[in-house]
Amino acid sequence: MVLVDPYGRPLTNIRISVNKRCNLNCIYCHMEGDQLNAKDAYLTPKEIHEIVKIAAGYGINKVKITGGEPLLRKDICEIIKEVKSVKEVKDVSLVSNGLLLEKLAYELKRNGLDRVNVSLPSLDPKVYGVITGSLNPVSDVEKVKRGIRKAIEAGLKPVKVNMVVLKGLNEKEIKEAIKFSHDMGVILQLIELQSINVNNEFFKKYHWDMEEIEMELMKKAEKVVNREMQNRKQYYLPDGATVEIVRPMHNTSFCKYCKRIRVTSDGSFKPCLMRNDNHVKFIDELRRGDTERVKMIFLKAVSRREPFFK
Ligand code: 5AD
Repeated sequence: MVLVDPYGRPLTNIRISVNKRCNLNCIYCHMEGDQLNAKDAYLTPKEIHEIVKIAAGYGINKVKITGGEPLLRKDICEIIKEVKSVKEVKDVSLVSNGLLLEKLAYELKRNGLDRVNVSLPSLDPKVYGVITGSLNPVSDVEKVKRGIRKAIEAGLKPVKVNMVVLKGLNEKEIKEAIKFSHDMGVILQLIELQSINVNNEFFKKYHWDMEEIEMELMKKAEKVVNREMQNRKQYYLPDGATVEIVRPMHNTSFCKYCKRIRVTSDGSFKPCLMRNDNHVKFIDELRRGDTERVKMIFLKAVSRREPFFK
């Protein structure tokens, strides 16, 4: 059985933030909607298992682990194992900045991780440093590249590279990023800058409209596939490169085809990426072992789902 929200959208994905900490400090970070000052009460692997089991009971079968930087959790492999052990779950993925991926790729795979998305906003250490706040951008860019290689070698599939495109910072690197990803054999996701507040100075300064690059890809592509998730388009270029465009802003079809609910690291359901005012907290009930109540809270969160851009 798959749950359908009040707007007719089937719910198949859950995205779980497992911490707020990060070893980078990206200028655009939306922190998956978590508040930094929220009390640290991270979900344990067993609690994450419980939540996934409840969600799976309502038809969710894809789980994405995110952060902060999820690989900073010492028990990340246990978390993956707990998620994978929910029998309905058929896809476990993770988003990482890649700095610790070289060390962990094989172990993550062994514990049941299917695939990984790695953030790499620039290949140029200078730009990488500006965007991510890295203090050692030369070695960090190399570290991330080694992490990507290791992920491929470990059999995580597909590996995707995330590049948030920022005006005046990395928008000129798109072609290079396409080439890099193609050479590595990974999918490139070009992500439009997203913000809850489009009027702030930061957004105005760095937001880059993806229209032009999308038109260009459309012209070049041999094949264009509409992914079910958020109606994203994947462009297959004649040389074999694959580029996916993620355009959340003012995009009604991004919302119309959204199938995911989120979990904040301190134990609330978050019905929409773009909103922080409609979370529904479940941590106390979960810790009391009141599964029935947590199920009710889950349903309440689903009932609060509505497209942000209509
Ligand atoms: N806009 C768009 N994408 C973002 N990400 C993080 N913050 C933003 C933002 N403000 C992306 C990063 C990361 C993924 C989890 O979300 O690319 O890889």
